[in-house]
Amino acid sequence: MRRFSRLVSPLVFSTALLGLWWFVSKNPELYKRTKFDPEQATRILLFIACIPVVFFFVRLVDIIVFDVVASRRRSVSAPTLLRELVSIAIFFLLIWSTFSIVFGKSVTAFVATGTVLAAILGLALQETLGNLFAGIALHLEDTFDAGDVIRTGEVMGVVESVRWRGTRIRTFNNNVVIVPNSLMARERLEVFARKGLNARVLQMNVHFNIDPATVIGVLVQAASNVDGVSHDLPCIARVGGFTESAMVYEIKYFTHDYSQRDRIDADIRKAVWYAFRRNGITVGFPVRVFQRDSTPETRQNPEPKEIVDRLSKVDVLSPLSGAEFEAMAAAARVRLYARGETIIRRGDEGNSMFIVHKGEVSVRVEDEVARLGPGDFFGEMALLTGETRIADVVALNEVVVVEITKDALQPILYDHPDLAGAVSAKVLERRGGLDAHRHEAHEEEHRTILSRMRAYFGL
Ligand code: CMP
Repeated sequence: MRRFSRLVSPLVFSTALLGLWWFVSKNPELYKRTKFDPEQATRILLFIACIPVVFFFVRLVDIIVFDVVASRRRSVSAPTLLRELVSIAIFFLLIWSTFSIVFGKSVTAFVATGTVLAAILGLALQETLGNLFAGIALHLEDTFDAGDVIRTGEVMGVVESVRWRGTRIRTFNNNVVIVPNSLMARERLEVFARKGLNARVLQMNVHFNIDPATVIGVLVQAASNVDGVSHDLPCIARVGGFTESAMVYEIKYFTHDYSQRDRIDADIRKAVWYAFRRNGITVGFPVRVFQRDSTPETRQNPEPKEIVDRLSKVDVLSPLSGAEFEAMAAAARVRLYARGETIIRRGDEGNSMFIVHKGEVSVRVEDEVARLGPGDFFGEMALLTGETRIADVVALNEVVVVEITKDALQPILYDHPDLAGAVSAKVLERRGGLDAHRHEAHEEEHRTILSRMRAYFGL
């Protein structure tokens, strides 16, 4: 139907134009009002009317020669490029002849006189001619045929046809890309011919536990039975490498129809999955081995026994029994401080007291009031009285302290009322120490102010 309309439409068009030409040639007075030369104008009109006829003949010859005669004889369709070249040649031949007949002049003479026109045409057709000749070269070299898979530049797909301007490629995503022939002639071209055997390699991850001989056998068998895999050469499976989670196997298969590669790949993967299932082979997946950290613990933390020892050496705690020391040690927390760290801040709430296990701390109310070392305790004032912390306690070097909370201390105080007495005596003693220190500081301040006044007034 399409062929028929391609033939008939130029004829209809031409008939209309010839009718117009006939009418105008019979009525030359129509030109009177215009500045056209009647004879010349009529010839131009006749030439224009003949052009559709030329198209008609070109198409007719194309159909008869290639669609009817050639395909019957060789049972293959002629390449599009050849058809187009023949059509172009016939077209120019007929136009040439029509021009000579209608105008009574040779086209050569006409073109020769119009050097500028020839130059313009030459420039305009430069790209087109480049494509045309590149197309011819590709054909003459028999580089590829329709149906072959090619990769040119970034484009890969099945060649549908080579035309005079470009090659039509259908990509694996079913898009059509037309690559100019001249570009293809310049680029690196990879051809996966339909007639030849094309190799393809697939990768597959398999668990480390399964021996390669079994896996290779299963892979080869599964791949060989997939439709589209050629039997001209056997499939090969081999160990491609090791990753951190699996063994990588490669399956190499051959196919005549490379355009089917995505479908064949998918079918092989599917067949392999089922074959693995039947043979108890597991695919590779990331494996992580967890190991307990066995690096020796830092010796900063004292053993429970050491804590019990330490507690038993604190003089105010002497009334306690061994079991009570153990219970206290179990409830205690060991804390490690770096040099310069503040363990207790003056003015804070306090719910626990500390026993120095290692190192030295400085008790400060502006200046240092006291220094405490292993076996000494601090923080008892706020804990026992409920007041806020009375002084800062700062680590003078790396310090390990044992912290005893109010909850841990309460039952012990309940069972040993004498213990509360001993601690409160210590509190009183320390308060006295603080007061003495404050008094000294006050005296010192007083002396300083007095000496300044004397100096100022020259007393
Ligand atoms: P607390 O008030 O809870 O916090 C600060 C701590 O510093 C205080 O308890 C005491 O344990 C300690 N402290 C205060 N004054 C002295 C002192 N004169 N001698 C030793 N330690 C003290």
